[in-house]
Amino acid sequence: LACAAEVRPLLHFTPEKGWLNDPNGLFYDRKDDIWHIYFQSNPKNPFWEKELHWGHATSKDLTNWTQHESAINPSHRGEGILSGSVVVDRNNTSGFFNDSVHPEHRIVALYTRNPGLIETQEAAYSVDGGYTFTKYEKNPVLDVKSSQFRDPKVMWHEASNQWIMTVVEAQDYQIQIYGSDDLKNWNFHSNFSAGYPGFQFECPGLSEVPIAGTNETKWVLFLAINPGAPWGGSASQYFVGDFDGYEFKAIDSLTRFVDIGKDYYALQTFSNVEKKDGVIGISWASNWQYANKVPASNWRGMLAMARNFTLDYVSVNPQKKLLSLVESPIFEANVSKTSEKKNVKLQKGDSIEFETKSGVFEFELDFQTMKNITYPEQPNLDLYITSSNGKESIRFGFEADVGAFYFDRPTNVFQNPYYSNVVTANIQPTKKYEYNIYGVVDQNVIELFFMNGTTSSTNIFYFSDGKPSKVELKSNYNDLFKIQKFSLRDLSV
Ligand code: FRU
Repeated sequence: LACAAEVRPLLHFTPEKGWLNDPNGLFYDRKDDIWHIYFQSNPKNPFWEKELHWGHATSKDLTNWTQHESAINPSHRGEGILSGSVVVDRNNTSGFFNDSVHPEHRIVALYTRNPGLIETQEAAYSVDGGYTFTKYEKNPVLDVKSSQFRDPKVMWHEASNQWIMTVVEAQDYQIQIYGSDDLKNWNFHSNFSAGYPGFQFECPGLSEVPIAGTNETKWVLFLAINPGAPWGGSASQYFVGDFDGYEFKAIDSLTRFVDIGKDYYALQTFSNVEKKDGVIGISWASNWQYANKVPASNWRGMLAMARNFTLDYVSVNPQKKLLSLVESPIFEANVSKTSEKKNVKLQKGDSIEFETKSGVFEFELDFQTMKNITYPEQPNLDLYITSSNGKESIRFGFEADVGAFYFDRPTNVFQNPYYSNVVTANIQPTKKYEYNIYGVVDQNVIELFFMNGTTSSTNIFYFSDGKPSKVELKSNYNDLFKIQKFSLRDLSV
């Protein structure tokens, strides 16, 4: 039996050794057709220490990753190479490249350097496709004499013909927008502040996101806050709006969250993705409240699966539809077994039971509540995911009288006051009181997508023997839940 600390998810990236937090520098190489991720890495120890490196991995399918040597390293003890991004400078606006470097391999990283008391933005370039980098000899490229100024996310803005950087003045609650012609000289354009302030702003990013079923797009401004999530600790929120190359204007004041689980932070989108592939991003699947303490052997930390993002008009209440993100995970896996039940009226005492051999599976649950009246007791539909030794279960379910979903993870294996067991989700049903959930369970992490991906909840969990094995659907009430479809696909990679 594998103990909790040794279990590695298969569809989620984990470092071979040491510590991982934020995804950094995500980009797609159009010449070699390969996805690159970098990440905040402490290669020495499985916990966060100031001397952060940019760890590095590549993949052809966003699922199977090959880890490489760290790509950007601190030059002395006490220096941190913090979060940042990568762009492909195909027209050599920076002057870092000569003609021998293929335009698609003119790769520039912009990241935060923290040598002690101050945080500045620096540049480094790679001429070998992103495997090794040379730091720009005239660094920093941006210094405002601040100790909390970080996480540059850079992109090319076609309409205004310039590079755009979003970066945070973390403890002033400001997302700052800068522009540049050469990635070296940066001009301040504007400040943006909205949403839940939390204690500090981190990891901002702007993306132009297509609106489903139209030829239109809107700009989405992503922002991580920590601590300050309504459910505790770290959270990723976003704003929908317009961007003219200088200022971001939100279309409304609603605070939207990318994910409402405990473990989805520091989202970054890939740069240089081809139009047909849309907007793709990856987050860190943890929470600063307990990230450094979760069960670990010689490595700690995982990334969430890659997600595709579009925008659509989503019901936020029975009267109103608002532009919101629609998210779906991207991964490649083989289905080793499918189990499915359709059109079952689930009565008290009934259960639909499936097995999973690999502990890695996806499931779909479509159901309808057959009454909408007041109920005498908590009328629940419960999905239990139980470990192979039968000692722990996740309980995920729906409480019909209040229309709320809950996710309840066991807290006996990893005991920490911040590692809370329950998170909830208030979901707007269809007019016929239908709900749909799609979930991916990968050994010790679950990503849930509600209502075709208009809400998601990502949570890590720990079982004493590591692996989910039994999945059961039950209700404690008669004639209430009609299971239109419940299916499970066991996966392997
Ligand atoms: C977010 C963050 C960033 C910083 C990095 C340091 O999780 O705090 O603001 O650059 O992690 O590892």
